[in-house]
Amino acid sequence: MTELVAPSLDRYEAWKACMEDFGDAHDDLHGSGYWYLPDGLRFDTDRDTLEALVAILRRLRRETDRATTMPSDFLWIVDGNEMVGFIRVTYRLNAYLLEQGGHIGYSIRPGRRREGHARRALGLALGGAASTACTACSSPATRAMPARRRPSVRTAASMSS
Ligand SMILES: CC(C)(COP(=O)(O)OP(=O)(O)OC[C@H]1O[C@@H](n2cnc3c(N)ncnc32)[C@H](O)[C@@H]1OP(=O)(O)O)[C@@H](O)C(=O)NCCC(=O)NCCS
Repeated sequence: MTELVAPSLDRYEAWKACMEDFGDAHDDLHGSGYWYLPDGLRFDTDRDTLEALVAILRRLRRETDRATTMPSDFLWIVDGNEMVGFIRVTYRLNAYLLEQGGHIGYSIRPGRRREGHARRALGLALGGAASTACTACSSPATRAMPARRRPSVRTAASMSS
């Protein structure tokens, strides 16, 4: 079942396995907050890196960092003990996000795609409130999809997998 949980060191092994599944596809890590890590830590998957990341993500719930962000909730998408991806919800947009990022950024690890996790995570992130809002930010993956096939929000009833 797709669930959203707060980032936590308690799930270090699951986070590491998820990051390793992405491999070198760092540009795919939408919604992970990975880009806010300092350069020296960005390619690491050790416990210290996750500790730094969790602290940054907690701070970014309240504060803006650069011109590229606004206060955001960063959540992890899990299926049982396995971590399957990331999702970020930003409630107010600045000029950059209006053009580039939108309200929501998300990604699913390569080994768990096409199982409906993105669609269900979007629904959970928005509380299942909207019925068909397409909230995907612009990325090569979503631009390649016909609009009707992009992950979009459906009713809460269709969220369980
Ligand atoms: C885009 C992404 C999040 C989709 O995750 P997913 O869990 O595979 O998506 P879902 O299984 O929930 O699929 C949702 C819909 O999109 C469609 N879809 C997903 N990936 C697709 C692809 N590569 N090509 C065409 N359609 C695709 C599915 O068929 C599904 O449509 P349906 O509900 O009508 O069947 C994933 O490919 C990813 O992480 N990409 C890299 C990061 C990214 O681009 N994030 C989005 C921008 S913020």
